[in-house]
Amino acid sequence: MVDYQTSGPADALRLACPDLHLVTEADVLVSHGRDWTRFRKPAPCAVAFPNSVRQVRELVTCAAAERIPLVPSGGRTGLSGGAVAAHGEVVVSFDRMRRVLDFDPIDRTVTVEAGVVTAAVQELARAKGLYYPVSFASEGSSQIGGNVATNAGGVRVLRYGLTREQVTGLKVVTGSGEVLECNRGLVKNASGYDLRHLFIGSEGTLGLIAEVTLRLSDPPLPSKVMLLGVGGMDALMKVFDVLRADLALTAFEFFTDRALHHVRAGHGLPAPLDALCPLYVIAEFDCPTEIEEDRAMAGFERCVAQGWLLDGVISQNDRQVAEMWRYREGISESISHYPPYKNDLSVRVSRVPEFLQRMDALVREVCPDFEVVWYGHIGDGNLHMNILKPAGMELPEFESRSHEVSEKTYALTQSIGGSISAEHGIGLLKRPWLNRVRSAAEIEMMQGVKRVFDPAGIFNPGKLL
Ligand code: MLT
Ligand code: ZN
Repeated sequence: MVDYQTSGPADALRLACPDLHLVTEADVLVSHGRDWTRFRKPAPCAVAFPNSVRQVRELVTCAAAERIPLVPSGGRTGLSGGAVAAHGEVVVSFDRMRRVLDFDPIDRTVTVEAGVVTAAVQELARAKGLYYPVSFASEGSSQIGGNVATNAGGVRVLRYGLTREQVTGLKVVTGSGEVLECNRGLVKNASGYDLRHLFIGSEGTLGLIAEVTLRLSDPPLPSKVMLLGVGGMDALMKVFDVLRADLALTAFEFFTDRALHHVRAGHGLPAPLDALCPLYVIAEFDCPTEIEEDRAMAGFERCVAQGWLLDGVISQNDRQVAEMWRYREGISESISHYPPYKNDLSVRVSRVPEFLQRMDALVREVCPDFEVVWYGHIGDGNLHMNILKPAGMELPEFESRSHEVSEKTYALTQSIGGSISAEHGIGLLKRPWLNRVRSAAEIEMMQGVKRVFDPAGIFNPGKLL
C-alpha cells in the first residue's frame, strides 16, 4: 500500500517541477486513478495536472530520471483499464490543457490541446460550417488525447473511419523528454516513417500526446434513421447488404432484445416498435431528397417480404433521430452498474454472419448461466459482447469465470482472423490475450519500438505489452 503523504515520487516531482499542479488528495487519486472499468482498485500516489507542453516535458524528464511510472489520463471513459493506476503510479491528467490553439479554414483543420473534450471539437467544427465525424456515447466526457491514444471508433466508422483517419498532426513528448512534431498537418508527406501512426492507438505506452491537429469534413447531408426489428442473426447482414446497395449508409448498428430491455429500464424508454424482435438495427443514411426515402422504404419492404425484417420505423424529424439513437447509445450506461465483463471483438465484414452464428452457439454452450448482452457496430465488423455479473457473485470469481469464456471466445475469433479488441484497446484487462492476435515476432517488435520511445519504461507500464 502506498503512503500518499510521504510518497517519494510526488516529492521528487514537486522539487523538479515547482510550478506543476500535483494533487495527492484521496478523492482525486480515486477519481483520476481509474477509467470506466471496475476490476482493479485505483491506487496512484499522485495526480499531475500539467498546463503546457513545457510542463509535460519537465514532468517526463524528472520521471525518466527517477524511474517514476506515469499513467496518462484523458476523460477516463476507457473500457480496457488503459488509464487505471493500481500500483502507486503518477497519473498525468490533461484536464488543464483544454485550449483550442488554431483553426484553419483553408486547410480545414483544428489544432487542440490533448484535454479538449471530443464533443467540443464536434461543436467547434459545426460552428465553422464543417464536421468532426468521430462520434460515440461518451463523447461528452472523453478527451481528444485519449481518443488518439486508443484510436477511438464509434458509430460512424462505416463512413468516416476511426480517429486515425482524422489526425493530420501530433505533438508528443517522448520518454527522453524530446518533443516530436509529427506530420505538421500535411495532407501528403512521403518523407519516411510516419511516426504519427505509431502514437495513434499506442495506449499511452510510447509518449504523452500533448497537442492534436484534426482534419474536418464537409458538413453531412441531411440524413434519416430507421429503427428496424430483425428476425434473427442470419437475417442481420442480409438486411445490411440490401440497404447498403441502395443507400449511402453512415451507420449500421445492432443490439439484441436483452440490450433493449436494459436500455429501456435504465432510461425509462417506451417500446420502439409494436413487434417484439430478437434483434434491432439502427440504420442511418444520407437522405437529401424523397428519392432516398423511397429507396429506403423499398429496401425495407424487400427485407420484410423475405422474412428478414419484422417491423420498423423511419425518422421524420431531428427529435425522432435523437430518440432512436438513444436506444443504441444508452445501452452501455444502462448495464454499467452490474458491472459487465466487456469483449470488443472484430472480424472482416465478410465473416460477420459466420462469426455471429458461431459466437451464439459458443455462448449458449460455455456460459448458459450468465446473461450476455450483445450490441455493436456490426456494419464495420465490430461486436460488443457484454457478460453481466450475476447479483451475489463476487467480482474476482466473476472475472475468473469470464476469463474462461474469453479463452474460448478469443480462440474462435483468432480462428477466423479477427481481433480481440476492435476499438476499446488492450489496456490492462486484455493484455494476457494479446498473443492471440499478434505473433511473437510482432510483439517483440512492438517491445523494441517501446524501448526506442520510452527507454526508461515509464509510460503506462503493464498496459498493452
Ligand atoms: C459502444 O459501442 O456503445 C461503446 O463502445 C461502449 C461499449 O461498448 O459499451
Ligand atoms: Zn463501440
